[in-house]
Amino acid sequence: MKLKVLILAGDGIGPEVTQEAVRVLKTVADLGGHDFSFDEKRIGGVAIKADGTPLPKATLDAALESDAVLLGAVGGNEFNSLTPDKRPEAGLLAIRQALGGFANLRPAFAHPALAINSPLRPEVIDGADILFVRELLGGLYFGKPREWNRETGEAWNTMRYNRSEVVRVARVAFELASPRRRKLPSVDKANVLEVSQLWRATVTELAPQYPDVTLDHQYVDACSMHLMNTPRNFDVVLTENLFGDILSDESAVITGSLGMLPSATIGGAVNLYEPVHGSAPDIAGKGIANPLGAILTAAMLLRHSAGLEQDALAIEASVRKVLDDGHRTADLLRGGETKRKATSTQEMGALVHEALNEIIDRRQAMHAV
Ligand code: IPM
Ligand code: MN
Repeated sequence: MKLKVLILAGDGIGPEVTQEAVRVLKTVADLGGHDFSFDEKRIGGVAIKADGTPLPKATLDAALESDAVLLGAVGGNEFNSLTPDKRPEAGLLAIRQALGGFANLRPAFAHPALAINSPLRPEVIDGADILFVRELLGGLYFGKPREWNRETGEAWNTMRYNRSEVVRVARVAFELASPRRRKLPSVDKANVLEVSQLWRATVTELAPQYPDVTLDHQYVDACSMHLMNTPRNFDVVLTENLFGDILSDESAVITGSLGMLPSATIGGAVNLYEPVHGSAPDIAGKGIANPLGAILTAAMLLRHSAGLEQDALAIEASVRKVLDDGHRTADLLRGGETKRKATSTQEMGALVHEALNEIIDRRQAMHAV
């Protein structure tokens, strides 16, 4: 298996956590005899400083030529006063648009070993396994007109979707729901917004083509509450861009830490893989960030860009093992455990690497018999 991966480590904790994700990818390549190649380019704040733009042409060209893009994080406090089009985040939005992936898959599930990390009671989160399908190229993030008119003291953004943008992302959600628990809530605010009425009507129209999936509609405000009250009732969740951004962070509460959540963006020319967490400038460079979100993102990359499902599962099992063995990065030390020594970013990466070696070795030994 040959795979050209472009690494965009970005800002803040991006480089530290991405390094551990790459280490895991290299382990899979070594043990499986795969030919993975890695190129690195700049994006976000580091690119603004070095190249004067958050998405340099060299980065974009390399991304379009790769088989998969693995991104760390973008953003930093020093850019906070800039207008949205000049900020590191503009680079991320531009590369999302250029690569064309419109379906952002964000799994959020309860790890039994981390039950104590959630403020929700264990019996509420136990067994929760949610997959958000977040539309990534439309809505308020990209809709025009958008402007802050400083003279009149007014600003506006536009939440805009057309039918085909809804259809294509809804199809991904229906298809993913079918082999799972076949439940699909679609999230909107159709009691107030025309764009949500279009969204709801379009998704409803598609439903008869997926008779095994039970579609329902939830208002985003109610959905955000139900997610915390009864997370186990959810399976695949279809949402537009901004609602998905908000609900996926909220659902980190189920997992125990935002540092655990991976994501994959599919449907475009090149798939884009990024952990859900941001650049966390307050802890950057200290070697204490949680690399598991990035590592689980690498698993998604193997699943969706390389067809290496067994290796993706092996990475996920390795992460579970390391957590079951009691290893915790600082963000995961809670609930009276704070006196315990935190595992560093690199140590955590090394532990996953070790567990992965064992799991893949065992698998290969079994196949050899
Ligand atoms: C995310 C992030 C991004 C988003 C930011 C950094 C632009 O919050 O991936 O969830 O809002 O999509
Ligand atoms: Mn977000």
